[in-house]
Amino acid sequence: MAENCRICNTLLTKFLSLGEMPIANAFLSKCEIDEEEYTYELAAGFCEDCKMVQLLEVPPQEKYLVPQEDEGNRYLYFASTSEHMVEHFSTFADEVTERFLSDDPRIVEIGSNDGIFLKNFSDDVDVLGIEPANNVAEVARERGVESINEFFSTDVAERIVEEHGDVDVVFGANTILNIPDLHDLMDGIDTMIRKDGVFVMEDPHMLEILKKTAFDQFYDEHLYYFSVASITNLVRMYDMEIFDVKKQPTHGGSLRIFIQRSNGPYQVSDRVRAVRSEEERAGISDAETYRAFSDRVQEIRDELLAFINAAVDDGKRVVGYGASSKGNIVLNYCSLGADVLEYIVDNTPAKQGTYTPGMHVPVVAPELFREDYPDYALLLAWNHAEEIMEKEAEFIEAGGEFVRYIPELEVL
Ligand code: TMP
Ligand code: ZN
Repeated sequence: MAENCRICNTLLTKFLSLGEMPIANAFLSKCEIDEEEYTYELAAGFCEDCKMVQLLEVPPQEKYLVPQEDEGNRYLYFASTSEHMVEHFSTFADEVTERFLSDDPRIVEIGSNDGIFLKNFSDDVDVLGIEPANNVAEVARERGVESINEFFSTDVAERIVEEHGDVDVVFGANTILNIPDLHDLMDGIDTMIRKDGVFVMEDPHMLEILKKTAFDQFYDEHLYYFSVASITNLVRMYDMEIFDVKKQPTHGGSLRIFIQRSNGPYQVSDRVRAVRSEEERAGISDAETYRAFSDRVQEIRDELLAFINAAVDDGKRVVGYGASSKGNIVLNYCSLGADVLEYIVDNTPAKQGTYTPGMHVPVVAPELFREDYPDYALLLAWNHAEEIMEKEAEFIEAGGEFVRYIPELEVL
């Protein structure tokens, strides 16, 4: 288990262990449920020096980006399954066009998924997506987004610059936290962006994870949990600086961070200092904050289990809603299996008919839920609560109740 910070090599302070975990997105087919699953200890540490929060044990990437027999690999997450996400990236594409594009406009996205962001640009903008999952990149290509099937690296960055030229904007949403070697990433960014270019990253914000006790953000693919504090330290090593930040409601509370070369063209916004102070007030640089977080996580588990066990004892039918990776962390950490959750509803066709990793709860289409409503639906995709509750208004009208456990146990 890596004990040293992957950014600055300082010994990490371990603060959280959620126990042995399967890969959060490794849904199983019926014939796979009897096979032994790969597991690792899901544990996180804090670097008291550079402030980076990170996973201690990092499972190999091929465990969640499943290699296929017919070459390539397969991934089950399609960003466009959420209408809100579609809108979110379309709005940001407009902002990028207005603020950052030059006369020879060029954008690279790292982790471009199904083209949800890049498809929004007009034809005169040269866009290139880097997306390692073949099946997901194929969907982007169908939407007209040129996508290369690779993991990002400095080698890929050099090739892009040779073939396409340097770029105005490099963007990565919910991707940068997946990249094991952030030094290689930063070298690649340095290679690709123009003198006046920008790097924009958007990932769950450690501040929000602390505020909401969102412990289900910790899982295999999320190697890092960023803050203005930690990213300032990282980018400084590459002679770059944060010049703007914007909080985003996505993925349970994210931060969009805008980075340029030191003393670049953009004035440093007051928002950077404001968010940084808020982080400091919340104790983001203090190891004690993380120990207290871990205690709260155990309290949430105890409350959730007490609620569900009482409901089941009462003869109530309980299901899960949203077969998200986050949900699988909660199910495994709390040992919630098919004996208490009848099924989990999910609108992703590729997940329907599968079983959740570790706990083996069947995943079904929303139609099945709507045919015969249960009493409670546990919001495993709590970050999409609003969208799901709007969609399932009839369940609530029929007397059903949604249950949330983040930031605290609540029957909605
Ligand atoms: P995410 O939190 O990683 O985006 O995953 C959310 C999961 O919830 C994903 O598998 C899609 C599913 N989902 C629904 O089933 N119905 C919905 O209305 C939404 C927004 C998501
Ligand atoms: Zn460090």
